[in-house]
Amino acid sequence: MPKTRKKVAVALLGLGTVGLAVAELLEKNRQLIESRVGASLELKSALVRDKAKARPGLPPGVVVTDDPSAVLDDPEVDIVVEVMGGFEPAYAYLRRAIEGGKHVVTANKAVLAKHWDDIFHLAHDRSVDVYIEASVGGGIPCVQAINDGLAANRIERLTAIINGTTNYILTGMASNGQSFEKALKDAQAHGYAEADPSFDLDGMDACHKLAILGSIAFDQRVRVEDIHLQGIRGISKQDIDIARVEMGCVVKHLAMARVRRSDGALEVQVVPALLPLDHPLAGVDGVNNGVLVSGDAVGEVLFSGRGAGGGPTASAVISDIIFVARNVAVGVAGRVPSIPYDVEKVQSRRIVPAEEISNRFFVRLTAVDQPGALAAIARVFADHAISISSVAQNEKEKGSTVPVYVSTYSAPERAMRECVAALERLPTVRPNTLVLRLEVPEA
Ligand SMILES: NC(=O)c1ccc[n+]([C@@H]2O[C@H](COP(=O)([O-])OP(=O)(O)OC[C@H]3O[C@@H](n4cnc5c(N)ncnc54)[C@H](OP(=O)(O)O)[C@@H]3O)[C@@H](O)[C@H]2O)c1
Repeated sequence: MPKTRKKVAVALLGLGTVGLAVAELLEKNRQLIESRVGASLELKSALVRDKAKARPGLPPGVVVTDDPSAVLDDPEVDIVVEVMGGFEPAYAYLRRAIEGGKHVVTANKAVLAKHWDDIFHLAHDRSVDVYIEASVGGGIPCVQAINDGLAANRIERLTAIINGTTNYILTGMASNGQSFEKALKDAQAHGYAEADPSFDLDGMDACHKLAILGSIAFDQRVRVEDIHLQGIRGISKQDIDIARVEMGCVVKHLAMARVRRSDGALEVQVVPALLPLDHPLAGVDGVNNGVLVSGDAVGEVLFSGRGAGGGPTASAVISDIIFVARNVAVGVAGRVPSIPYDVEKVQSRRIVPAEEISNRFFVRLTAVDQPGALAAIARVFADHAISISSVAQNEKEKGSTVPVYVSTYSAPERAMRECVAALERLPTVRPNTLVLRLEVPEA
């Protein structure tokens, strides 16, 4: 008979935006949460860097410490909740917790994306639970939904907006007429972008999250290095306007993984792309996130909602705590891996190298305004075997140079890269060509 428990003890690593919100929400909804667990939950201690910092809203009775051993070596703690962030010492503490037989909940996408194999292998060896809902999509319960709710399906495609900062900026440019710089400042003023926003703008944050979702959805390890990555720098308000007027599209920063029909290989990319206005993700605006999953039985399923912030993220963290605490309370924790990660059984589809991924493209060129310029541009596309589907020119911007927008049919990234290099060698084309993907099905 498994040993049942009346009380489960939890400790936090980190008491910042998410950690404090977890402590507050556990207290606010205590009765409800404990009835769902079937045991009482004690928030015993929290590890911080600076013990002297005020922690408004922290419920009484929680021991705040700057000594990792006080949390990690406390035999009474059943569940360690890592909401510190960063690679180290977060990863070292996670390992130490697992090695010490503690169950783990983490929101740390950076550590998960990098150390996925080690964490899940170690957890399997030590028979502990590891839950990771808050690492992707903030408050949207997309991890467990894909892992459990869609487990009967062969997932064919996953398309997601999973970085609130870039989505807020692109939405600000589209809806409020803001320049990129103004939209970024606005995001920083609202606390949606870091002082150094590179991690978000250049796509690494979305890349970490896609590595996690992809590894779950496609039953094989998707590594950060496998993902074709392009951020949102260089996109102008004018590009977004033209995309809408000429193409009937919005510009979104998309994380995409899809099984290629021709050979079953997996294409994974984080890229800015045009989406038709009636696409399910086109209306996911501001700091919201959206995850669209396509399964062979279920068809398309869309998850959307608040992708960050203390409250939504605490909602996801506590749902994990409830899962684990329930297991601890009935004495079955660690018996079934939360993510069915088994290196012997996982698939091994080929992951398509970035330059071989095929996309439709929407290209902005800066051309000298003179007769024959367009014909020369068209010739370069043809020389690279890329078929043009439409061309638009922004009359309003007419000067000595003019922005020319070319949309294409599907072509490999390598061909497009070589095409851009050749275009920029033309005497009539200036540098700084912008290449976006065009997520519009070919007619
Ligand atoms: N914020 C969000 O909306 C959000 C959404 C989804 C996922 N996440 C993830 O959740 C995690 C936490 O994010 P957050 O926004 O809550 O971060 P945060 O506000 O910066 O809080 C970090 C906390 O960890 C503590 N800490 C940091 N380094 C430490 C160290 N070396 N030793 C001891 N304590 C340390 C800090 O202590 P002090 O308070 O003493 O400085 C602070 O309490 C990250 O992995 C993040 O990616 C956040």
